[in-house]
Amino acid sequence: MKKIAVLGAGLTGASAAASLVRQGHQVTVFDKGRAAGGRMSSKRTEQGYLDMGAQYFTARSDVFTQQVKQWLEAGLVELWRCKTALLSDDEGVISLTASEDKQQRFIGIPSMQSPVSALLQGIPLLTSCRIHKLDYQQQCWTLYAEDGQHYAGFDAVLVTVPPVQAQQLMTQSGLANIFDSVTDLLEPCWAVAVQAQSIPYGDAIFCQHPQLRFISHQQHKTGRSSCYILHFNAQFSALHLDEPAEFWFERSSQILRQELQVKGDIKTLVAHRWLYASQKDQMAPPGILAMPAQQLWAAGDWSYGGRVENAYLAGLQLAQAVHEYSDHTEAMR
Ligand code: FAD
Ligand code: NAI
Repeated sequence: MKKIAVLGAGLTGASAAASLVRQGHQVTVFDKGRAAGGRMSSKRTEQGYLDMGAQYFTARSDVFTQQVKQWLEAGLVELWRCKTALLSDDEGVISLTASEDKQQRFIGIPSMQSPVSALLQGIPLLTSCRIHKLDYQQQCWTLYAEDGQHYAGFDAVLVTVPPVQAQQLMTQSGLANIFDSVTDLLEPCWAVAVQAQSIPYGDAIFCQHPQLRFISHQQHKTGRSSCYILHFNAQFSALHLDEPAEFWFERSSQILRQELQVKGDIKTLVAHRWLYASQKDQMAPPGILAMPAQQLWAAGDWSYGGRVENAYLAGLQLAQAVHEYSDHTEAMR
């Protein structure tokens, strides 16, 4: 049995932690956020949850399909009965057309983070705990949190935070910068929630648009406030990265009124900036990064291509890497 620290309580960290606990290890999970979920988090409001991050997930591998089946049986996720549509911009002419397909899309209920919380059930989780320094002495890791606390005695550390934050942690700790080649991997996304009259066609609107990548209507999602979530694309989000919420509210309202002909009141609710949201298409996913001799392992959705399913699979791969390395070093003794 090893004592293992997992940094990050998104789906990668949760999947790794659950798998390591099943293998008999003692695991503690740390997250800077107030709850588990990471980019699979929904914001709680009086009217219901708002999915500001991931909107849905698909399952293509056998392993994840099996896991989703179990979550469905446990009532943690449901099939999203969404109508799909395409918003396209043909040299300035915007059109919205139905774009139906047979893809099954799933959502956590009553919020996106439900499956993450379920994986972490019974596993010690320290929230609002930002780890800002790591120290490795005599084959043991100590984690230093920003609030002055420290946590000692770990045999292994799994880093599942986005690469830029991971690189900062390595620099601060004076450790080798194994993240140097991947810090450009994730791009930003501004997400805006609004209440507006229904747009014809579509709960899941894929956008080939100069500013937007996705519009989601939450009406058929259990537990959610019935509103729209607009996700701006990486280029437009990066170009206006530091604009205040008002900028994003105005942009969203203008697009809805002028390009989608939405009439009546538009009530803007929340604007959220994700600095490290989605994988750059043109960059090859790097797989797991590691300092095996020190038992430091790192992965995330970015390791395998930036989707919910890939985060889950990255967690399993991390757990397997720790396990295989333990077996290997045992055999060497
Ligand atoms: P994260 O969820 O980012 O988890 C990392 C965790 O590390 C976070 O909880 C963070 O708080 C924590 N952390 C960071 N630094 C520290 C530190 N120093 N100390 C402690 N904790 C720290 N995927 C889909 O499949 N379908 C979608 O529709 C979809 N839509 C998306 C829309 C948006 C706007 C975004 C942002 C993402 C979307 N994704 C979607 C991607 C999906 O959300 C991610 O692939 C997945 O949630 C990543 O999980 P993760 O555990 O690898 O990372
Ligand atoms: P998926 O199979 O539903 O979609 C994959 C991609 O195929 C879509 O992005 C879209 O371009 C296209 N597509 C699928 N169905 C379509 C339809 N009916 N009409 C038109 N285009 C269609 O889901 P998958 O592969 O699981 O991908 C995850 C989703 O997560 C994607 O939609 C991706 O854009 C989104 N995502 C968003 C992020 C963000 O920052 N906003 C970050 C990471 C993922």
